[in-house]
This record gives sequence, structure tokens and C-alpha cells, in this order.
Amino acid sequence: MHNTAYYQRDAPLVSDADYDTLFQRLLAIEAAHPLLASEDSPSRAVGAPPAQGFTKVRHAVPMLSLGNAFSADDVKEFLARIRRFLNLEDDDSLDIVAEPKIDGLSVSLRYENGSLVRGATRGDGNEGEDITANLRTINDIPDALVGDAPEIVEIRGEVYLPHSAFSALNAEQEAAGAKVFANPRNAAAGSLRQLDTRVAATRPLRMFAYAWGEVSTEVAATQSGFLERLDAWGLQTNPLSRICEGLDDIIDNYAALLTQRPDLDYDIDGIVYKVDRLDFQQRLGFVSRAPRWAIAHKFPAEQATTILRDIEIQVGRTGALTPVARLEPVSVGGVVVSNATLHNEDEIRRKDVRPGDTLVIQRAGDVIPQVVRALSNKRPKNAEPFVFPEICPVCGSEAVRDEDEAVRRCTGGLICPAQAVERLKHFVSRNAFDIEGLGSKHVTTLYADGILFGPADIFRLAAHREVLLEREGWGEQSVENLLEAIEERRTIPLDRFIYALGIRQVGQATARLLARTYGNLAEWRAAMATAREAESEAYTELLNIDGIGESVAGDLLAFIHEEHNRQVLDDLDALLEIQPFAQPERNSELSGKTIVFTGTLEKMTRSEAKARAEAMGAKVSGSVSAKTDLVVAGPGAGSKARKATELGIETVDEDGWIEMITG
Ligand code: IVH
Repeated sequence: MHNTAYYQRDAPLVSDADYDTLFQRLLAIEAAHPLLASEDSPSRAVGAPPAQGFTKVRHAVPMLSLGNAFSADDVKEFLARIRRFLNLEDDDSLDIVAEPKIDGLSVSLRYENGSLVRGATRGDGNEGEDITANLRTINDIPDALVGDAPEIVEIRGEVYLPHSAFSALNAEQEAAGAKVFANPRNAAAGSLRQLDTRVAATRPLRMFAYAWGEVSTEVAATQSGFLERLDAWGLQTNPLSRICEGLDDIIDNYAALLTQRPDLDYDIDGIVYKVDRLDFQQRLGFVSRAPRWAIAHKFPAEQATTILRDIEIQVGRTGALTPVARLEPVSVGGVVVSNATLHNEDEIRRKDVRPGDTLVIQRAGDVIPQVVRALSNKRPKNAEPFVFPEICPVCGSEAVRDEDEAVRRCTGGLICPAQAVERLKHFVSRNAFDIEGLGSKHVTTLYADGILFGPADIFRLAAHREVLLEREGWGEQSVENLLEAIEERRTIPLDRFIYALGIRQVGQATARLLARTYGNLAEWRAAMATAREAESEAYTELLNIDGIGESVAGDLLAFIHEEHNRQVLDDLDALLEIQPFAQPERNSELSGKTIVFTGTLEKMTRSEAKARAEAMGAKVSGSVSAKTDLVVAGPGAGSKARKATELGIETVDEDGWIEMITG
């Protein structure tokens, strides 16, 4: 009882000294009468945290990310985009809530009938980890909401460690010979992921709430109204949030917060702007993984100067040769930096960066540190310009540069160990196959051992159990866990699968678009094979996917054209169960349909219509073909509407369309 009060509720019922006395008495009794020591005795818990990790939790409503604005112009464009989308007149008002962007960890708290039932990390946005016990130790997170809360409400916010607590914690860690944290964010993350709740309880974490996930009834009419409700329920909202009207107000507020930033007891890395009216937010919806109604206005990066020891060339998954600056370690905004990216050879030349130079480097959010410039007045006399290699430093193949490309690439393909290993690392990475226990280091050594050449070999690792067991540092249990983790991933959704292939320019969003368009692996492969003909309908269809242009299409087709890639696909197809893309579960007659909009729409903008269609599970295409299911034709519709009639495709006017989406 005292343990729960102290460690989980952070509200001890007795003084520390009394607790210690009670605890010593317990130990004495148990020592004298071992049979009295129960399984769950507090004496057994000390120093023996639960060994297993956290359970996974699927978020009922995904936790999304935000688009970024780096300048006033970007913000201006953001506002203009919203006005266009909503079709607002110049004198219609558009209130924006500006909230400091807390640099912590986002979490989701689920309250049912007012009581906290579960708390989870963001994870990949769809699935996080259940860290309820640790979250309960945070004072800012009430066990029960005050007043009238919806029956179900998921509250989202940012957990952070105040600066003052961070310094104290690091001093303690150092004194104890334990790990020193690079910054408050890492310290907060480390604290939340403590398997031992008692440790988490000693870290004075805090939380600001700012958003919601699943709710059983509407939370408010505006974001500002929602923030007020959060306050009333007993949560903390950031006191520096405010409503802005128009660009000037927003920019003034930005300047003011930037000045205040060094004096705050927590890190902020920018300001989040949100459209205040929730009915507007609803209409604006989402693009890919971010809302159209919000944006993060980033603060400028933090800078420091240091010496460039050397320039090293790394070879990536697609063969790109990337120069990396090896630096004298330096602290930038509280993080020790010893590497920075130099992007490519032109960048080195443009910035005239030479080994031995003193460089200005900067860190922007989570991004890899960048080299801003070299200080030429500090250049040693003998510093020579850097000569970029024309052969791959890893496999010795020629490294070539296409005319219109900034990047030089190794031509070794899969015979280049660097490329093969990087592809494997990507394949098992978190947003791809997410194979726990198969980290970068293991991939590298298993490749060097000749056990792992291509992705399919991962699913044949079980045959090498003996070899794995002989490896230093791999116990029976870790090998079992790894093989089990691999088995679990034999079933994989198509979009993750496509992303895992590591095709150039095919990130998660593009992989999703492809999965959504083609549905299953066979369809996708067949379409890619025929799309090699530039004249083909398949190629037109590919380009018709909003978000895929000629350049991405080129990389996709080049990938499929390679014999060895097709072999990899065949092998994986035989070893895995690749799940067809699950169309968003919507009871809509539009789900899975292909729609073409043509002519003028008067009641909603084209982008809004498109977003609504997609939200109901439909695909929107730019041209009419036999695959089109529905054409929405406004006034002025021309050849597309005619073609639809010729092909006998259902055609409706704008009112018909609105009826369809409003049911
Ligand atoms: S709103 C769909 N508000 O920033 C809206 N996010 O880059 C999602 N963050 O993952 C987030 N302060 O961890 C929002 N006042 C704030 C925030 C905030 C910090 C973080 C959050 C999110 C990330 C997005």
C-alpha cells in the first residue's frame, strides 16, 4: 500500500523515515520466518524490476505529425492555402490558436467515465507502448478528470522534464556513475520507458495537454474552447497559448516567444498554429500523415563552432556517396555533436570546407547536424581542398554522377556490401518490417558472416540457429526472441512491404499510395510491368496518382525492371503473407471507387471535394478511363464528361455529389 502511494501516486502516506522503519521490520520478519514472505512482498520487488518490455497499444485514432513552416512566407502560404480550401472571402475571419511547440514526448491518455484507464506513447503514430504505470506517477496527469468529461476521451499532450529537474538528474546520474542524458527530451524519454515504475516515479516529469484522439461526444466547438475544457478537467495547458488574428499577429507572437524562449523552464522548438474552429478543421482534413489545419513554425536552429577533423564518405542504400564531417565533439544546444552531414560534393565545393577548418554547425530539431559555413580566417595554412572520390570507397566500383543529379552513386549495386547492408537495415527498420532484435550491428555482422545477403535470407535465419547461438553475446533466449520476432513479421501489410523494399524516392506516403491504388502485390507488380511502356494505360494510371510524378515513376519502374529485384520479390512472395491493402473501413458506397472531377465546382473547392472523396475510401484520378467509376461534372465540363458518357460511366452534377457524401 505504501509502495503504491509513494511510487505510483507520488503521494506517500507516511514520512520517508517511517517507511524505512516499516520496510526494515518487514525484512527482519521475513528473515526470521521465510515462510511468511509472500510472492508479492515489497522486499522481492526491490532491485528486481519486471523483465518484460511494454505491451503494444493500437491508437483508436492515429497520432499524426505536423507539417513544418520555416519562415513567415511559409506561414503566409499556410493561411492562404486554408482560405483557398475553405473558399473564404478576404473579410471572413480565420482565428488561429498559437501554442508553443513543446519538445518532449507525445503521449495519449485514455479516460473512461472520467478515470484514467490507459496511457501510451506515440510510437509510430498507429501503435505505441502501454506506459500507464509510469504516466500515473506524473502529477500533471490526474487519475480522474474533474467535472463533466465525455464517457470516453483520449487526451494527447507532451510529457517533458523541466530544465531545473534535468540538471539535478544528470548531476545525480553522474555521481552514481550512471548514464548522463544528452538533453531533457532524452531524459524524459528514458524516464517514461523505465520498466521499473519506481525509477520513473523519482523523475519529476510534467505534461501539457493540447489535443484529443477518440472521444464519445464532441469536446468543443473550437480549439481554444477545448483548451479551456482541458483546464477545467484538471489538466495543464500551456499558459503561453493564444488566439491570433491574421499573419501580422502570428508573426508578432512568434518574435515574442522567441525572446522568451531562453527563460522558459522547458524546451520549445517552435510554435504550432491550429485553425481555431473545429468545423473548419473537419472540412480541412488531412494530407498524408499531417492535418491541413495545423502547422509547426520552427525556431531557428542552434549553432556552435568546432574543428573539422576529416571528411568521410559513406555509401547509402541507393549507392549514394555521402560526405560526412567528422568533428571535434562540441555541445550544440545541450547535445554533443561529433558528426555532421555535408550532403554532396557540390556542397563541399560551394562552402569550401576543408579538413582542419573551423566550422559553424547547427542542429535543427531531430535532424542530423548540418555544416553552415567554414570560418576562412581560421583556416590552417596547409589545408587542402577536399577531392571527392570517383570510385566507391567500399567496393571499388566506379562511382558516377548523372548530369542533372547532385549525387554521385556507386554502380556496384548489390555486389557493393555497403548498399546491400544498408538495404537490409532499411528492410528491418521500424517503419518497414520492424524486426525487434535485429539492429544495425547484427545486420552488419550477419552479412559479413555470409548468413544474410538479401531480405529473403532473414526469413531463413531459423536454419542457422546453431551459428547464431555460437555468436558471442547471443544467448539462447535472445536467439529465440529474434526468431520469434521474425516469425511474427511473416504477415505484413502491402504498404509496409513496398516501403521496406527501399526503392528510391518511395517513402511511407508513396508506398501507401501505391498500396491503396493497386490493392495487392500481384496487381501492383503486374501494373508496374506493363507501365514500362510509356504509352500504356498502366503508365497513365501511375502518373494519375496524386503524389506520384515522372521522377518517382521512373525510379519505381527502374526497380521493377532489374532482374535481381524481381527475384527478391518472388522469394519474399513465397516466404511471406503480404496482406492486401485494407481500404479504410467506411460504410460508404464510394469506398474503393475511382472518381474524376471535371468542370467547376461551386459549393466546395476541388481540393475539398478530393479530400472528402479520399476520406470515404475513394481514389481520385485526373483522367477518365474504363477504370473510372464516377465522374462529377460541374459547369464547363468538356471532353472528360463526353468520354464518360461514351464509356457509359455514371456521371453526377455537384448536387448529386453532395448528396452522395452527406448520405
Ligand atoms: S498538435 C494532429 N500541439 O509536435 C496534431 N503537437 O510535429 C498533432 N507537439 O507529435 C499534434 N507541442 O509531439 C500539437 N501544442 C502542440 C504540440 C505538439 C508539441 C509535438 C507533438 C507532435 C509533434 C508534431
